[in-house]
Amino acid sequence: MNTVKKVVVIGGTGLIGSKAVRLLQDAGHEAVVASSRNGINAYTGEGLGKALAGADAVIDVSNMMSFDKQALVDFFGTSSRKLTSADKAAGVRHHVVFSIVNADRLAANPYMAGKLVQEEVVASSGQPYTIVRATQFHEFIETLASAYSAGDSVRVPDIDFQPIAAADVAAALVEAALDEPKNGTVDLAGPERAPFESFVSAYLDAQGDTRRVIADAAVEYFGATVTAGSLVPNREFIAGRLTLAEWLPA
Ligand SMILES: NC(=O)c1ccc[n+]([C@@H]2O[C@H](COP(=O)([O-])OP(=O)(O)OC[C@H]3O[C@@H](n4cnc5c(N)ncnc54)[C@H](OP(=O)(O)O)[C@@H]3O)[C@@H](O)[C@H]2O)c1
Repeated sequence: MNTVKKVVVIGGTGLIGSKAVRLLQDAGHEAVVASSRNGINAYTGEGLGKALAGADAVIDVSNMMSFDKQALVDFFGTSSRKLTSADKAAGVRHHVVFSIVNADRLAANPYMAGKLVQEEVVASSGQPYTIVRATQFHEFIETLASAYSAGDSVRVPDIDFQPIAAADVAAALVEAALDEPKNGTVDLAGPERAPFESFVSAYLDAQGDTRRVIADAAVEYFGATVTAGSLVPNREFIAGRLTLAEWLPA
């Protein structure tokens, strides 16, 4: 039996995708680094037929940064429709798509609305699939701290948080892709759950940034009203290994 798999990583040059490619290669598998700049475009369909020929699995970690709900819904919906059609045409065994924990409960946030449409397109495509939903990355805390900056302080939602290292996300995606399709959703979260402000404070402390971090119940998560459990799994989840303290440079 041939145990070497061909896995196409859509978004293979990105933060998560490049780590997934490295893990696949280190394990002796064939990884195709798919990105629009490499001539493989999930949104237009360019290069998909050739890239997916003979593939066992596809991991979709492509991304678009925008605050425009229509643009996000169009990007994630269209690219997932193109990808799952190409999967079926090429006989790909498993489509793994990456999403965010509780995307269905946070659809007032334009980005989550896009991810939710992406999930719906994949789940209704007829292509065997697994949706892997993760919490926010340790690597994303810097962006959050700057987005929530308010003068001399940082004002964040008064909710729980359970961030995960991008390396742990990539490992879980690779494991999912090499496994059988779940035709369902799995949640992935970091090893520690604590108030949002405590992670942002720990991150800023490590940078020597002395700004005070304040939890404020009136602060939303980019357009979505949130309550304590909005960003953390509310069911069984796969736990990442690296705590924020272990991930931070010494
Ligand atoms: N940030 C968080 O805390 C968090 C939490 C959970 C989930 N996520 C999810 O994580 C995923 C990956 O995020 P990331 O930070 O790794 O993204 P990233 O670093 O911004 O990389 C995005 C990748 O997508 C590729 N791409 C963009 N448009 C494409 C297209 N039309 N066709 C093919 N490839 C395309 C880019 O390459 P080109 O530019 O060359 O096309 C790049 O390789 C996203 O789905 C995001 O929703 C993020």
